[in-house]
Amino acid sequence: MKMLDNLRSNNVNTNNRFIKALHSSILQMACFVAFAAVYSCSPSTAVNEQQISPEVAKKEQILRGQYLVNTSACHDCHTPKILTPLGPEIDTTRLLSGHPADEPVASVPNQSDWILFSQGFTAAAGPWGISFSANLTPDDATGTGRWTYEQFETAIRKGKSKGLERARDLLPPMPWQMYQQMTDQDLKAIFAYLQSIKPVSNAVPAPIPPQDIVAVNVKN
Ligand code: HEC
Repeated sequence: MKMLDNLRSNNVNTNNRFIKALHSSILQMACFVAFAAVYSCSPSTAVNEQQISPEVAKKEQILRGQYLVNTSACHDCHTPKILTPLGPEIDTTRLLSGHPADEPVASVPNQSDWILFSQGFTAAAGPWGISFSANLTPDDATGTGRWTYEQFETAIRKGKSKGLERARDLLPPMPWQMYQQMTDQDLKAIFAYLQSIKPVSNAVPAPIPPQDIVAVNVKN
């Protein structure tokens, strides 16, 4: 009996040892897989991070800004249009240069129920008078060439003309109340893009106050 017991316990011991060995090799394999995964992921991320030079980061920021400008309707109001039988199309030779200075201001019908846009969407008439979309290109004299990022941020976040704290409020239809909710990162990207595009010399006219609209009508 004793011998049998010994044999049994030996057997159990062998089984235990076998299971333990199995467990430890499974554990080793799991460790190896985990290690391989960590090893294959982390060094490449680290390399990627090291590889992004300031130039590449800037390029990526500008591309993000371009994407935001293209998808946030800036061209709708800020880019002059070519009029086609199917409607206004963006004039790619003068992107974001604002209401063309040489475009005559059309007469405004004498009624107050509507807000009216010029055919290129760059001028709009309403209870505030007539406003003209700004030149956002980096032209020094007529655009944003000399603007700091802080000015751009003040224009968008606080709705201030030229981004100057003490300047007049921006007029409709500039939807700064919506754009003011953009993240710092997105506003910086938009500014970086605007600073990277072709400067266009175009001195946008000053807004016409409501009381002067009649005079505009008479002139036309
Ligand atoms: C619905 C028309 C409209 C859209 C869309 C629009 N804007 Fe404007 N924006 C205007 C008008 C009009 C003005 C000029 C308002 C004024 O003179 O008070 C203006 C003014 C500005 C100004 C101030 C410029 C200055 O010289 O003071 C900035 C900056 C600006 N827009 C940026 C943008 C950006 C960036 C976008 C897109 C994310 C955009 N706008 C989309 C109509 C628009």
